[in-house]
Amino acid sequence: MLTDQEREEIEAELPHYPRKQALCIEALKVVQRHRGWVDDEALRDVGGFLEMTEHEVDSVATFYNLIYRRKVGRNVIHLCDSVSCWVMGCDRICEHLKNSLGIEIGETSDDGRFTLLPIPCLGDCDKAPSMMIGRELFSDLTPEKVDEILRSRK
Ligand code: FES
Repeated sequence: MLTDQEREEIEAELPHYPRKQALCIEALKVVQRHRGWVDDEALRDVGGFLEMTEHEVDSVATFYNLIYRRKVGRNVIHLCDSVSCWVMGCDRICEHLKNSLGIEIGETSDDGRFTLLPIPCLGDCDKAPSMMIGRELFSDLTPEKVDEILRSRK
């Protein structure tokens, strides 16, 4: 069941949308903000509130790559793997991240600090390679810069 707080935050968005179902992504973001990720129960909760089936909500959740359908670490690294970042060496950054964290793409470090995921273009192509953690964008990445960013995260 949605908590009162979740319900309140979702309802606050209602006036901005033509119909309840159009709120789906916002509702999923609210639930994820509170629970860390969107499990099957959360899907049902959102579906119940928006009068959508679990399958319909899941279709939205799996389409939108900032909604996590599996448990993630405290910091989710979205490393851009689109063309400008690829040309500018995102493969090297990816290898560095994987080696530093001891994980592969799609995995979470043992200490639960980091999850590493790919993402299409972040709109930061002129400063490639780029990655995002939470709402923060990191540009012109080098292995040294990545080390510094990783150290700064709890
Ligand atoms: S291609 Fe990576 S930010 Fe655009």
